[in-house]
Amino acid sequence: MKILVVYYSVKGATEALARAIGRGIEMTSGCEAVLRAAPPVAAQSSQSLPAVPDSGAPYVAKDDLRDCGGLALGSPTRFGAPSAPIQHFLDGLAAEWVSGALASKPAAVFTSSNSMHGGQEATLLSLAVPLLHHGMVLAGIPYTEPELRKTLSGGSPYGASHVERASENGLTGEEKTLAEALGRRLASLAQALAP
Ligand SMILES: Cc1cc2nc3c(=O)[nH]c(=O)nc-3n(C[C@H](O)[C@H](O)[C@H](O)COP(=O)(O)O)c2cc1C
Repeated sequence: MKILVVYYSVKGATEALARAIGRGIEMTSGCEAVLRAAPPVAAQSSQSLPAVPDSGAPYVAKDDLRDCGGLALGSPTRFGAPSAPIQHFLDGLAAEWVSGALASKPAAVFTSSNSMHGGQEATLLSLAVPLLHHGMVLAGIPYTEPELRKTLSGGSPYGASHVERASENGLTGEEKTLAEALGRRLASLAQALAP
């Protein structure tokens, strides 16, 4: 079963979370993590982009959404909200909403911010709302994960996260463990909910 992980990342922190979630997905036997990037947007975005960027994951395509058994969606926090490329990606999903392509599939969200109180939880909740409109079943991180009580940086019951200022060398141990746990949970829910 394919579990789609869609993210936007400029400096790599959200991408590091996406990879940790992907590792968690692949700890569940029978599940494959499909990492896809949301393309950037420009003031005039009529230029055509190659299907595969020079670096990072291929850009997300409509087929990825149809074929997935679950979705993790991630964005850097920008002014306490998801970034424009992720919002642009979501705005393009009218046909998938009409067809119910994502309905009853599990979903999870993740983010990276610079500061601890810079709006991570607001971003995670904003990412979750459109997925509820698509009829997705939202999965958070339960407090039965011990790292959720220990973390002094990212990781939240609302989703996986990273705080740059807490660790300039990438994800902390707790952030990584919690992102992997979210991936594992998403994968096992996808198997349980599969028609
Ligand atoms: C336009 C802009 C707005 C930002 N707003 C916030 C913010 O509200 N709170 C915060 O803590 N960090 C903010 N940041 C910092 C990013 O969230 C942070 O650098 C993030 O880890 C980048 O993720 P990436 O490495 O995946 O690109 C902002 C960055 C940019 C460029």
